[in-house]
Amino acid sequence: MLQIAIVNMKGGVGKTTTAIHLAAGLARQGSRVLLVDADPQGNVGHALGVRRERTIGDLMLGDASLDDVVARGVRERLDVIPSTPAAFALESHLAGAPQRETILSRRLKAIRGYDAVIIDTSPAMNLLTYNALLFASDLIIPVSMDGMAILGARQTLAGIHQIRELWPDRRLDLLAVLPTSVNVSTNATRAAFEALAEDVEMGDRLYHRGIRQCIDVTYAITQRQTIWEYAPRSRAAEDYDAFVQFVEGGVADVPAGRTGRDATIEKGQAIV
Ligand SMILES: Nc1ncnc2c1ncn2[C@@H]1O[C@H](COP(=O)(O)OP(=O)(O)O)[C@@H](O)[C@H]1O
Ligand SMILES: [Mg+2]
Repeated sequence: MLQIAIVNMKGGVGKTTTAIHLAAGLARQGSRVLLVDADPQGNVGHALGVRRERTIGDLMLGDASLDDVVARGVRERLDVIPSTPAAFALESHLAGAPQRETILSRRLKAIRGYDAVIIDTSPAMNLLTYNALLFASDLIIPVSMDGMAILGARQTLAGIHQIRELWPDRRLDLLAVLPTSVNVSTNATRAAFEALAEDVEMGDRLYHRGIRQCIDVTYAITQRQTIWEYAPRSRAAEDYDAFVQFVEGGVADVPAGRTGRDATIEKGQAIV
């Protein structure tokens, strides 16, 4: 089972958009997927039109069972555990609770029948984020290419190093650094690509193809639709399709000859 957390300590970089489209995209390809919202802002539920009274907060507090919190059939093969701002209070409610960083992991142990669990997180190293990272085996760091991109990504990696230090037995791999809102005609995008490519840790995990800037992504969310429902012929639909296939392991990064997002990687390996 794929267990992937989407993280970046910076807000507005495309975490929620990526979590939704990776989850919905894998489901479209035939996988059974659980999408977990570990951000108290609760954007996932909003974006997909999920109505559920019990949320991740209740699950974490032990006030609700998995059955109570999983919204089933949000899309074909896609279930969701939503979140609400009530989850902001988890930190104080769970202060002093033993092993509180692994509550989510323990609660999700009982899940059956999924090929992938995708977790959206908030832009802070809070209790829910720790819980998400201690459940996940793989990470995707979306990086918005409109400037300052690399700073948030580096902060995120610092947090991940801390987790690896504190829980050395847990596997937690960086699956991809995913450029979002890519606009190759801007200097900001080009500079961000260069900086990421040169980074010791992120360079060989950089998914060069990225997700192009596409306003339909924003319109789709406001319509509570995925990009494939709202604008199936859009650039973002094409790019998220390719990224989903990359995560599934079937497809290399960039078709040869593509410019701007130039080099080619396959599962993080550079092929020149
Ligand atoms: N490829 C893209 N093109 C244009 N806008 C995008 C793209 N990806 C995300 N956005 C927009 O950027 C904003 C932040 O995205 P979001 O996924 O909510 O970020 P985060 O979860 O990291 O805060 C949203 O308004 C979203 O619609
Ligand atoms: Mg978000």
